[in-house]
Amino acid sequence: MVIANSRGPHTLSDLIDELGPSARAATAAEAAAAGDFVVIAVPLKPVNDMPVDELAGKIVLDTNNYMPWRDGRYPLVDAGEKTVHELRQDHLPTSKVAKAFTHIEAPRITTAGRPAGTPGRIALSVSSNFPEAVAVATELYDRFGFDTVDNSPLGESWRTEPGQPAWDAHEHQTRPELIANLARARRERSAYRV
Ligand SMILES: NC(=O)c1ccc[n+]([C@@H]2O[C@H](COP(=O)([O-])OP(=O)(O)OC[C@H]3O[C@@H](n4cnc5c(N)ncnc54)[C@H](OP(=O)(O)O)[C@@H]3O)[C@@H](O)[C@H]2O)c1
Repeated sequence: MVIANSRGPHTLSDLIDELGPSARAATAAEAAAAGDFVVIAVPLKPVNDMPVDELAGKIVLDTNNYMPWRDGRYPLVDAGEKTVHELRQDHLPTSKVAKAFTHIEAPRITTAGRPAGTPGRIALSVSSNFPEAVAVATELYDRFGFDTVDNSPLGESWRTEPGQPAWDAHEHQTRPELIANLARARRERSAYRV
Protein backbone atom coordinates (compact mmCIF):
# COMPACT_ATOMS: atom_id res chain seq x y z
CA MET A 1 0.00 0.00 0.00
CA VAL A 2 1.39 3.37 -1.03
CA ILE A 3 0.11 6.44 0.81
CA ALA A 4 0.41 10.11 -0.08
CA ASN A 5 -0.82 13.47 1.12
CA SER A 6 -0.31 17.02 -0.10
CA ARG A 7 2.73 17.83 2.06
CA GLY A 8 5.07 15.05 1.03
CA PRO A 9 6.15 11.61 2.22
CA HIS A 10 8.36 12.94 5.03
CA THR A 11 5.19 14.01 6.89
CA LEU A 12 3.78 10.46 6.91
CA SER A 13 6.47 8.65 8.90
CA ASP A 14 4.34 8.20 12.05
CA LEU A 15 1.49 6.68 10.01
CA ILE A 16 3.83 4.36 8.12
CA ASP A 17 5.37 3.21 11.40
CA GLU A 18 1.87 2.45 12.69
CA LEU A 19 0.83 0.56 9.54
CA GLY A 20 3.96 -1.56 9.29
CA PRO A 21 6.06 -2.92 6.44
CA SER A 22 3.20 -3.38 3.95
CA ALA A 23 2.82 0.40 3.72
CA ARG A 24 5.14 3.05 2.35
CA ALA A 25 4.89 6.79 1.78
CA ALA A 26 5.36 8.53 -1.55
CA THR A 27 4.40 11.63 -3.45
CA ALA A 28 0.84 11.73 -4.79
CA ALA A 29 2.09 11.11 -8.33
CA GLU A 30 4.17 8.14 -7.19
CA ALA A 31 1.26 6.68 -5.23
CA ALA A 32 -1.04 7.11 -8.21
CA ALA A 33 1.43 5.38 -10.50
CA ALA A 34 1.98 2.51 -8.06
CA GLY A 35 -1.62 1.45 -7.49
CA ASP A 36 -3.61 -1.21 -9.34
CA PHE A 37 -6.47 0.97 -8.17
CA VAL A 38 -6.27 4.25 -6.29
CA VAL A 39 -8.35 5.69 -3.44
CA ILE A 40 -8.71 9.47 -3.39
CA ALA A 41 -9.84 10.68 0.03
CA VAL A 42 -9.51 14.32 -0.94
CA PRO A 43 -12.22 16.97 -1.39
CA LEU A 44 -12.79 18.16 -4.96
CA LYS A 45 -10.94 21.41 -5.62
CA PRO A 46 -11.71 24.08 -8.25
CA VAL A 47 -8.15 23.78 -9.56
CA ASN A 48 -7.44 20.13 -10.25
CA ASP A 49 -4.36 19.07 -8.32
CA MET A 50 -4.70 15.32 -8.87
CA PRO A 51 -1.95 13.50 -10.83
CA VAL A 52 -4.00 13.08 -14.00
CA ASP A 53 -1.31 11.38 -16.09
CA GLU A 54 -0.35 8.84 -13.41
CA LEU A 55 -4.04 8.00 -12.86
CA ALA A 56 -4.71 7.41 -16.57
CA GLY A 57 -6.44 4.10 -17.21
CA LYS A 58 -6.81 3.38 -13.49
CA ILE A 59 -9.84 2.75 -11.36
CA VAL A 60 -10.14 5.63 -8.89
CA LEU A 61 -12.32 5.21 -5.81
CA ASP A 62 -13.32 8.69 -4.71
CA THR A 63 -14.54 9.01 -1.10
CA ASN A 64 -15.31 12.71 -1.41
CA ASN A 65 -18.52 14.21 -0.05
CA TYR A 66 -19.55 17.64 -1.30
CA MET A 67 -19.62 20.07 1.61
CA PRO A 68 -19.82 23.68 0.34
CA TRP A 69 -19.01 25.14 3.76
CA ARG A 70 -15.70 23.29 3.49
CA ASP A 71 -15.06 23.07 -0.27
CA GLY A 72 -16.69 26.21 -1.70
CA ARG A 73 -19.62 26.06 -4.08
CA TYR A 74 -19.86 24.30 -7.44
CA PRO A 75 -22.69 25.99 -9.40
CA LEU A 76 -23.21 23.00 -11.73
CA VAL A 77 -23.74 20.75 -8.70
CA ASP A 78 -25.95 23.27 -6.95
CA ALA A 79 -28.09 23.54 -10.10
CA GLY A 80 -28.46 19.76 -10.25
CA GLU A 81 -26.78 19.63 -13.66
CA LYS A 82 -23.85 17.47 -12.52
CA THR A 83 -22.88 15.52 -9.47
CA VAL A 84 -19.65 16.29 -7.72
CA HIS A 85 -18.36 12.89 -8.80
CA GLU A 86 -19.11 13.65 -12.44
CA LEU A 87 -16.92 16.72 -11.92
CA ARG A 88 -14.20 14.45 -10.52
CA GLN A 89 -14.59 12.25 -13.61
CA ASP A 90 -14.18 15.41 -15.71
CA HIS A 91 -10.98 16.18 -13.79
CA LEU A 92 -9.75 12.63 -14.49
CA PRO A 93 -11.01 12.01 -18.04
CA THR A 94 -8.72 9.04 -18.64
CA SER A 95 -9.52 7.31 -15.32
CA LYS A 96 -12.48 5.21 -14.23
CA VAL A 97 -13.96 7.05 -11.26
CA ALA A 98 -16.27 5.44 -8.71
CA LYS A 99 -17.91 7.09 -5.73
CA ALA A 100 -17.27 4.67 -2.86
CA PHE A 101 -16.87 4.54 0.93
CA THR A 102 -18.68 7.89 1.25
CA HIS A 103 -21.40 7.06 3.77
CA ILE A 104 -19.39 5.26 6.42
CA GLU A 105 -17.18 6.86 9.02
CA ALA A 106 -13.59 5.96 8.18
CA PRO A 107 -12.74 4.22 11.48
CA ARG A 108 -15.74 1.89 11.08
CA ILE A 109 -14.54 0.51 7.75
CA THR A 110 -12.32 -1.91 9.64
CA THR A 111 -14.68 -2.59 12.57
CA ALA A 112 -18.28 -2.69 11.29
CA GLY A 113 -17.91 -5.40 8.68
CA ARG A 114 -19.44 -8.87 9.02
CA PRO A 115 -19.08 -12.08 6.99
CA ALA A 116 -21.34 -12.46 3.95
CA GLY A 117 -24.77 -13.74 4.90
CA THR A 118 -24.69 -12.36 8.46
CA PRO A 119 -28.18 -11.02 9.31
CA GLY A 120 -28.12 -7.22 9.42
CA ARG A 121 -24.92 -6.98 7.39
CA ILE A 122 -24.36 -3.35 6.47
CA ALA A 123 -24.55 -2.27 2.83
CA LEU A 124 -22.60 0.51 1.11
CA SER A 125 -23.30 2.09 -2.24
CA VAL A 126 -21.06 2.56 -5.25
CA SER A 127 -21.62 4.72 -8.32
CA SER A 128 -19.58 4.71 -11.50
CA ASN A 129 -19.84 4.93 -15.26
CA PHE A 130 -17.56 1.88 -15.46
CA PRO A 131 -18.73 -1.63 -14.46
CA GLU A 132 -15.13 -2.66 -13.76
CA ALA A 133 -14.85 0.10 -11.16
CA VAL A 134 -18.10 -1.07 -9.56
CA ALA A 135 -16.65 -4.58 -9.47
CA VAL A 136 -13.51 -3.42 -7.64
CA ALA A 137 -15.54 -1.50 -5.06
CA THR A 138 -17.87 -4.49 -4.61
CA GLU A 139 -14.95 -6.81 -4.01
CA LEU A 140 -13.37 -4.42 -1.52
CA TYR A 141 -16.68 -3.93 0.31
CA ASP A 142 -17.10 -7.69 0.60
CA ARG A 143 -13.55 -8.12 1.89
CA PHE A 144 -14.17 -5.46 4.53
CA GLY A 145 -17.48 -7.16 5.38
CA PHE A 146 -20.14 -5.10 3.63
CA ASP A 147 -22.85 -5.74 1.05
CA THR A 148 -23.02 -3.54 -2.06
CA VAL A 149 -25.78 -1.57 -3.72
CA ASP A 150 -24.87 -0.41 -7.22
CA ASN A 151 -26.17 3.15 -7.57
CA SER A 152 -24.69 3.82 -11.01
CA PRO A 153 -24.01 5.82 -13.09
CA LEU A 154 -22.18 8.76 -11.51
CA GLY A 155 -25.14 10.95 -12.42
CA GLU A 156 -27.14 9.09 -9.75
CA SER A 157 -24.54 9.57 -7.03
CA TRP A 158 -26.37 12.58 -5.57
CA ARG A 159 -28.68 9.98 -3.92
CA THR A 160 -26.03 9.35 -1.27
CA GLU A 161 -25.09 12.97 -0.69
CA PRO A 162 -25.12 14.53 2.78
CA GLY A 163 -28.74 15.29 3.65
CA GLN A 164 -30.21 12.33 1.76
CA PRO A 165 -31.84 9.40 3.64
CA ALA A 166 -29.01 7.02 2.72
CA TRP A 167 -26.53 9.51 4.14
CA ASP A 168 -28.55 10.17 7.30
CA ALA A 169 -28.71 6.42 7.95
CA HIS A 170 -24.96 6.32 7.48
CA GLU A 171 -23.60 2.84 7.85
CA HIS A 172 -26.57 1.44 9.75
CA GLN A 173 -28.56 0.13 6.82
CA THR A 174 -28.89 -3.29 5.29
CA ARG A 175 -29.01 -3.82 1.53
CA PRO A 176 -32.86 -3.63 1.31
CA GLU A 177 -32.84 -0.56 3.57
CA LEU A 178 -30.17 1.16 1.47
CA ILE A 179 -32.09 0.39 -1.74
CA ALA A 180 -35.21 1.91 -0.18
CA ASN A 181 -33.28 4.96 1.04
CA LEU A 182 -31.79 5.55 -2.41
CA ALA A 183 -35.31 5.47 -3.87
CA ARG A 184 -36.47 8.02 -1.26
CA ALA A 185 -33.74 10.52 -2.22
CA ARG A 186 -34.90 13.94 -3.38
CA ARG A 187 -32.61 16.54 -4.91
CA GLU A 188 -33.99 19.29 -2.68
CA ARG A 189 -32.87 17.37 0.40
CA SER A 190 -29.17 17.68 -0.44
CA ALA A 191 -27.40 19.48 2.36
CA TYR A 192 -25.86 22.07 0.03
CA ARG A 193 -29.30 23.36 -0.91
CA VAL A 194 -29.93 24.89 2.54
N1 LIG B 1 -13.37 11.03 7.52
C1 LIG B 1 -14.43 10.24 7.25
O1 LIG B 1 -14.91 9.47 8.11
C2 LIG B 1 -15.04 10.27 5.88
C3 LIG B 1 -16.01 9.33 5.57
C4 LIG B 1 -16.56 9.31 4.29
C5 LIG B 1 -16.15 10.25 3.36
N2 LIG B 1 -15.22 11.19 3.70
C6 LIG B 1 -14.81 12.18 2.68
O2 LIG B 1 -13.50 11.85 2.24
C7 LIG B 1 -12.76 13.03 1.96
C8 LIG B 1 -11.53 13.09 2.85
O3 LIG B 1 -11.97 13.15 4.19
P1 LIG B 1 -10.95 13.18 5.40
O4 LIG B 1 -11.77 13.23 6.62
O5 LIG B 1 -9.92 12.13 5.24
O6 LIG B 1 -10.30 14.63 5.15
P2 LIG B 1 -8.91 15.20 5.66
O7 LIG B 1 -8.59 14.65 7.01
O8 LIG B 1 -8.99 16.68 5.46
O9 LIG B 1 -7.85 14.57 4.66
C9 LIG B 1 -7.73 15.03 3.35
C10 LIG B 1 -6.38 14.54 2.86
O10 LIG B 1 -6.21 14.90 1.50
C11 LIG B 1 -4.85 15.22 1.33
N3 LIG B 1 -4.68 15.97 0.09
C12 LIG B 1 -5.18 17.18 -0.23
N4 LIG B 1 -4.81 17.52 -1.48
C13 LIG B 1 -4.05 16.50 -1.95
C14 LIG B 1 -3.35 16.27 -3.16
N5 LIG B 1 -3.40 17.15 -4.16
N6 LIG B 1 -2.66 15.13 -3.30
C15 LIG B 1 -2.62 14.22 -2.28
N7 LIG B 1 -3.25 14.39 -1.10
C16 LIG B 1 -3.97 15.52 -0.95
C17 LIG B 1 -4.50 16.01 2.56
O11 LIG B 1 -3.10 16.05 2.73
P3 LIG B 1 -2.44 17.06 3.80
O12 LIG B 1 -2.83 16.56 5.15
O13 LIG B 1 -0.97 16.93 3.53
O14 LIG B 1 -2.98 18.41 3.48
C18 LIG B 1 -5.19 15.15 3.63
O15 LIG B 1 -4.36 14.12 4.05
C19 LIG B 1 -13.72 14.21 2.21
O16 LIG B 1 -14.33 14.57 0.99
C20 LIG B 1 -14.74 13.61 3.17
O17 LIG B 1 -15.97 14.28 3.08
C21 LIG B 1 -14.64 11.20 4.92
